[in-house]
Amino acid sequence: MSKVETIYLKDYKKSEFTVKTCDLVFELFEEHTQVTNLMSIIKVDKNCKNLVLNSVDLELIEIYLNDAKLDESRYVIEKETLTVLDVGDEFKLIIINKIYPQLNSELEGLYKSGNIFCTQNEPEGFRRITPYIDRPDVMAVFKTTLVANKERYPILLSNGNRESNFRLDDGRHGITWFDPHPKPSYLFALVAGDLGVIEGKFITKSKKYVRMYIYTDKGNESKCKHAMKSLKEAMKWDEDVYGREYDLDLYNIVAVDSFNMGAMENKGLNIFNSTYVLADEDTATDANFMGIQSVIAHEYFHNWTGNRITCRDWFQLTLKEGLTVFRDQCFSADLNSKEVQRIEDVKALRERQFVEDSSPTAHPIQPNSYIAINNFYTATVYEKGAEIIRMIYTLLGEEKYRKATDLYFQTFDGQAVRTDDFLWAMSSAGGVDLKQFERWYHQSGTPKLKVDEKFDGGKYTLTLTQIVPNAVDGSAQKPYFFPLKIALLDESGKEIEKKTLIVSKEIEEFVFKTSAKPILSINRDFSAPIIIEQTHNNYAFLMKHDKNSFVKYESAQSFGVETIEAMMRGEEIDEEFVKSYGHILDSEMDLSYKALLLELPSVLAIMQREEVVDFEPIYEAKEKLQKHLALTFKEKLLEIYTQNHKPASKELDAKSIGERSVKNRCLKLLSALESDEVIMMANAQYNGSITMTDRVAALDILENSSPEFSAVALEHFYKKYKDDTLVMNKYFSILAASHRDGTLDRVMALQNDDAYNELVPNLVRSLIGVFARNYKHFHAKDGLGYRFVVDKMIDIDKINPQMASGLAGAFKIYEKLNSVNKKLMKTELDRVVSEPSISKNVYEIVSKILKID
Ligand code: PHE
Ligand code: ZN
Repeated sequence: MSKVETIYLKDYKKSEFTVKTCDLVFELFEEHTQVTNLMSIIKVDKNCKNLVLNSVDLELIEIYLNDAKLDESRYVIEKETLTVLDVGDEFKLIIINKIYPQLNSELEGLYKSGNIFCTQNEPEGFRRITPYIDRPDVMAVFKTTLVANKERYPILLSNGNRESNFRLDDGRHGITWFDPHPKPSYLFALVAGDLGVIEGKFITKSKKYVRMYIYTDKGNESKCKHAMKSLKEAMKWDEDVYGREYDLDLYNIVAVDSFNMGAMENKGLNIFNSTYVLADEDTATDANFMGIQSVIAHEYFHNWTGNRITCRDWFQLTLKEGLTVFRDQCFSADLNSKEVQRIEDVKALRERQFVEDSSPTAHPIQPNSYIAINNFYTATVYEKGAEIIRMIYTLLGEEKYRKATDLYFQTFDGQAVRTDDFLWAMSSAGGVDLKQFERWYHQSGTPKLKVDEKFDGGKYTLTLTQIVPNAVDGSAQKPYFFPLKIALLDESGKEIEKKTLIVSKEIEEFVFKTSAKPILSINRDFSAPIIIEQTHNNYAFLMKHDKNSFVKYESAQSFGVETIEAMMRGEEIDEEFVKSYGHILDSEMDLSYKALLLELPSVLAIMQREEVVDFEPIYEAKEKLQKHLALTFKEKLLEIYTQNHKPASKELDAKSIGERSVKNRCLKLLSALESDEVIMMANAQYNGSITMTDRVAALDILENSSPEFSAVALEHFYKKYKDDTLVMNKYFSILAASHRDGTLDRVMALQNDDAYNELVPNLVRSLIGVFARNYKHFHAKDGLGYRFVVDKMIDIDKINPQMASGLAGAFKIYEKLNSVNKKLMKTELDRVVSEPSISKNVYEIVSKILKID
């Protein structure tokens, strides 16, 4: 890879020009699309002579300045820009150009997903459609006319409201859309296709009538109901909780199969990865239903946090993403189970963000530089960003937080702003000084908190020491300011003290008067995104007595981790842990929550604590523990399974979901016994259940324990669902995650399957991406797992760099690997950086992992 350009936040400059209005005409043909772009532009910096527009891979046809056609002496075309020379203070510019959406496999700009034309413009896709000042702080009013063959593309959509339509006598028709809200180009969208639709309506609190439409491939209409229900719930919730109302008469959602990410919040026209729209009980799991609810809400919430108030520049991305993730997490918590939601969110944070934050790709939630902005749609910007907003919420309290968000909306509506502006609103309406808190935006890495306790003559002293990791460049970073929820429990589990401590210094002491030595329940609700380091061991007690659902869960996890680590050192299984596990099995509680408590720590969770990582000892110890628990509690596990297994039920209420989740957890644990009895149960569940949740749970168990039964079940599954790509994703994932011998060969062969297509990101993620998370086979000591994924990364980079750099994530663990794996991985990664045509996306991640330059 030759020179790469790094972009810095400190180099931000205001745009020299601004676009007032942008009228677009798209003529969509089978081979190409012609774009006519009429902009009214105003010069902001009067000293500036030339207008520089972003423009990538465009074929220019003509340019007109104030209706006069420009000859070639008046403009300059470079690789990524089009410069119009000598322009006035206020002018009209018309640009006509040609693009080839049918050939666009990067899925940025205008492209085709199957027979549907669609767009993806965040962050910098618009410059692949037409020359433009493609940055989020340039906001214009858009009018869009789409023209296409009426038979093939009866549905033509863009942002805002529908204005007019016409017919041409060559079989084409046209529709004009107008969006009254000025917006940055990254929120522009269009869709054309022959689509099915379902309709819904919502009356806002000020009695405005909104019509909602969800479009999908024909035949899938009935699978959109859950998405529509979720959209209404989200609209209502944002009115109730944030006082935010929808601002157009129309809300359109379109589901497409080929999409790089989850979904996109384009104004009035969200475009979704079909995974987050389509569901019914036969084809989607309970987790899929939950995912749809939260992504639909997420995109809806962006209308206020993202669209009406947008980002000044892409370094501010967490301004909209961290905040919107926090909003969707609270929404899901309110609609489902608060305790389960919080644990799921923390789990996701640790599995991805903590790994990222301890690698050389670590970055602050507000980075100060990037090579490829597409690489910064990270767990850090999103999930850690959400944790930072949650801390602000905790510091301010519900009421002041609401005042502060009101102030934020009122002050910055219609503007493109910075995270500093958000913090200003939070601290002025919240009455909290957030100066030191700001470090969460600018420092990277996960801080640790060392906890020391002393009890002495009625005095309990808690000493907290922050251990702040260095930045990636080795420079020292400063202590954080954060809320730490704690409680002190007496020996019966009663809370004798409950407090939110404010921690701000490197070392801090908190003193409490208590008659006996209390038991500490710390970082309740995971009030700060940190790692707690404790030396004592009250886990068994806390698992039993703590009233805080998060700490109860956390204690079970920590106890599990310590037990497995002791086994890795050759010690016997800690029977105290086994007893505590049994206690959970026997306790009455919400079943989804119980299923979480019964989950043993992931290999990844244990791995994160090791100085040097080797996978085999971890999963060998974990498997041994699983088997021991299954043997010890066989009867109880069978009883829970039988009680909750209702093969004929497909209800989606919390109780039914909980039943499925706890009984599948028990069955999975029982499968460690490798007994015929359990295999028969899984087989019966596969054949008898009517939900996808039950079927994939059974299939996964069969795949990992019985080649004979799994062969039959997999064949049945394949025959039944081979034409349903969303279900085929599950099929590929189960096979790619398999622990059986020969998994790599099977994964390689599956690439030739008719249902597989390397152009579709979902399929690549479920086959190659899932394989790269299969610790056993990806990290195999023959190095073939690494070789395969790197080969794929290099191939796929030529098709879609964003998809390829996604695969690079699996290598973020490089630095912590044992010497054998590290050497093998390095050999392969070296191939990536020496590939002459590698994209900047992949180069940025891999060169950081290898610490090049
Ligand atoms: N802005 C989208 C979201 O978080 C994510 C996205 C980014 C989608 C880039 C596509 C491309 O809702
Ligand atoms: Zn988002």
